[in-house]
Amino acid sequence: MTTSLWRHARLTTLAGTGWCDIDHGAMVVQGERLAWVGPDADLPRDLQVDAEHDLGGALVTPGLVDCHTHLVYGGHRAREFELRLQGATYEEIARAGGGIRSTVAATRAADEATLLAGATQRARALMAEGVTTLEVKSGYGLSLEHEARCLRVARALGTALPLTVRTTCLAAHALPPEFDGRADAYIDAVCQWLPALQQQGLVDAVDAFCERIAFSPAQTQRVFDAARALGLPVKLHAEQLSDQGGAALAARSGALSCDHLEWLSDDGVRAMAAAGTVAVLLPGAFYFLRETRLPPVQALRDAGVPIALASDHNPGSSPGLSLLLMLNMGCTFFRLTPEEALRGVTVHGARALGLRDRGTLAPGQRADFVVWNVAQANELAYGFGHNPCHRVVVAGEECL
Ligand code: NIG
Ligand code: FE
Repeated sequence: MTTSLWRHARLTTLAGTGWCDIDHGAMVVQGERLAWVGPDADLPRDLQVDAEHDLGGALVTPGLVDCHTHLVYGGHRAREFELRLQGATYEEIARAGGGIRSTVAATRAADEATLLAGATQRARALMAEGVTTLEVKSGYGLSLEHEARCLRVARALGTALPLTVRTTCLAAHALPPEFDGRADAYIDAVCQWLPALQQQGLVDAVDAFCERIAFSPAQTQRVFDAARALGLPVKLHAEQLSDQGGAALAARSGALSCDHLEWLSDDGVRAMAAAGTVAVLLPGAFYFLRETRLPPVQALRDAGVPIALASDHNPGSSPGLSLLLMLNMGCTFFRLTPEEALRGVTVHGARALGLRDRGTLAPGQRADFVVWNVAQANELAYGFGHNPCHRVVVAGEECL
């Protein structure tokens, strides 16, 4: 196992309350883990290292975690964007058979290599800004064969690229055309697919879209029951366009996260707090759909619900590929503090994926970290449209 020393850094560790900065900091990496983190002056005297890196005072944070993406799909929805600019709403387009369904058609028509090439390009764009852990949902296949294909592509990303990929099965994303008028039968089918997908090692978690234009709370519950019976954790697209009570339902099923949440009720906040469910806010979708209703950030704070931020990259509601921009949007739109925003894409993003071994700079954590061309961590949320990411280390290996 190799040991490396990273010194003369400004470490924003996030390992307690506040930024937890160490101004003249050092880290000792052993293999894939951080073995020691502290002030340069306190480095163990008898330390033997294989490599030493002088960071010249640069800022270091934990590697970024994008805990909600739909990275695998075919085609794009630029025409739908034009229709929305002319006044059509996201819901109207979905009800008319466009929206998610149009991406399902394009995804089914694409071959696996094409899907992988597209997803790889997108993942690389996120990685260039310091993303070291990425969640990827299925949900544009909507048949056993095509969902499996999308999840295989997601797994392949994690093998081909230096980052952790967590896969989420979102077969309950929309009703495919072959099940028109038979939503309950489709949910039965999804529940039957889960064991097969799990046996192929393709599923780390199960998600659903609980909404007027998608699935009801009762249908969502059936998907969750099937997932829980297999020991799979659940999460939910909840309260994005209306209050369906989905977040409370998900929290009662022990959900890792509820995502979107613009229409979250007090009851939903309480249920999430009681269950330790993470609130994943998605300012990219809020922006792109020109939503006006804000998620109840102060109520989430008051209740002690951990708040994460993610790109929600997808072709319909959030086609951007910048997690740093989400920090800025999380602050400007949702009034998060820059520190909350950074926690949202590190420690809380990791928690939304059920991962406790990353998201802070502390001994025992995975050595996933980013060296930035800025002096202080609040600048990461302040700027936008430029990329201050300088060096990226994943599991102890420098990869950018
Ligand atoms: O997270 N809300 C549901 N799913 C995606 C959008 C999917 C699409 O429009 O293609 C989201 O916003
Ligand atoms: Fe989403």
